[in-house]
Amino acid sequence: MADLALRNVVKRFGEVEVIKGVDLEVKHGEFVVFVGPSGCGKSTLLRIISGLEGTTSGSIEIGGAEVSKASPADRGIAMVFQSYALYPHMTVAQNLSFGLENTRKSKAEIKTRIDEAARMLELEPYLQRKPRELSGGQRQRVAIGRAIVREPSVFLFDEPLSNLDAALRVQMRAEIGKLHRRLQTTMIYVTHDQVEAMTMADRIAVVNGGRIEQFGAPLELFEHPVNRFVAGFIGSPRMNFYQGTIKDSREGVARVFIPGFGDLTFEVDRALAEDGVEVELGVRPTYFAFVEEGDPQAIAFQVEYAESVGTETYVYGKIVGNPATTILHFADHVALNENDQLRLRPALNRAHLFRISDGKSLNASFVKTSVPEASADSAVH
Ligand SMILES: Nc1ncnc2c1ncn2[C@@H]1O[C@H](COP(=O)(O)OP(=O)(O)OP(=O)(O)O)[C@@H](O)[C@H]1O
Ligand SMILES: [Mg+2]
Repeated sequence: MADLALRNVVKRFGEVEVIKGVDLEVKHGEFVVFVGPSGCGKSTLLRIISGLEGTTSGSIEIGGAEVSKASPADRGIAMVFQSYALYPHMTVAQNLSFGLENTRKSKAEIKTRIDEAARMLELEPYLQRKPRELSGGQRQRVAIGRAIVREPSVFLFDEPLSNLDAALRVQMRAEIGKLHRRLQTTMIYVTHDQVEAMTMADRIAVVNGGRIEQFGAPLELFEHPVNRFVAGFIGSPRMNFYQGTIKDSREGVARVFIPGFGDLTFEVDRALAEDGVEVELGVRPTYFAFVEEGDPQAIAFQVEYAESVGTETYVYGKIVGNPATTILHFADHVALNENDQLRLRPALNRAHLFRISDGKSLNASFVKTSVPEASADSAVH
């Protein structure tokens, strides 16, 4: 059973529709990450789930019960925000217990919950301190602790780590992961950070312009993006895109001309492929390898500049004959200079094709690079 479901949720602020019909089913115990550009509606979705914001239409179910009209306190949800305002004049212990004192819990039960949360988050040595006597990471743990003591059925996190420095983020990321494994509670987590999304999520929802573009496991989104937006959003550095045209499309096999790459033949979704359709070829920066002269799939690449970060190298430049800027990523140190020419083989079996008009993936799978025109038919099955 879905632990949390949104059904055709729409939210308007005055005239402006910011959530445009969202459907989402989150399973019990799942860790779901929302990613998407600034202003796409991630925080609004969390606020709608928590009840801090009402919906314009649509329904929300938690544990099978319709809660759209229920108050935030009755939804069994706890939310942790980016700016975790702790009460400065209260100790850590008081900050943790504050939300519980208005409920009808006994003193003993409140103490048990606080001790348990403090142990889980390794806050025991700090219970009597004030927030100003804590580091940023410790304060963030207190904010998470406040959510834990409420024993919610769903946790919502809105960019909880974005105020922390890089090292602390990595540490807190691991701690939230551990917490999730221990509590087995459903969690929804908003982040701008690709690595957080890819490493923490059971499933990622890519949000764009108030809609969910794709909802799936991190690798599914990485390897099988349903459209150009998801392809460009998931993965860092971002996928390279090259414009071209379908020259010949027959029975689900299309020949596509991409400047600099030549004529490429793909099996494609036949409903989307027609002669003359403008497409983009998508190739991730990691899917280019060095090859010797004479490789039939080799393309020429002109280096503009290269950045080496010890074990990795990022190269910026252009595929000869194509105007698009290309980024290459090698998991190694490669010594390169401006104007060097490289011979590369793109891993076209991992490439994607998107229709430019609506960005849809053609579900392309590479067949061959065609050299002589005459042999085009014979090699296609
Ligand atoms: N109370 C409000 N009144 C009017 N418009 C609002 C209100 N709250 C949010 N919006 C608008 O709704 C859209 C979505 O905002 P939201 O805060 O959900 O984005 P977000 O995806 O969380 O962005 P960010 O990554 O910057 O946090 C934005 O265009 C924002 O300006
Ligand atoms: Mg936000």
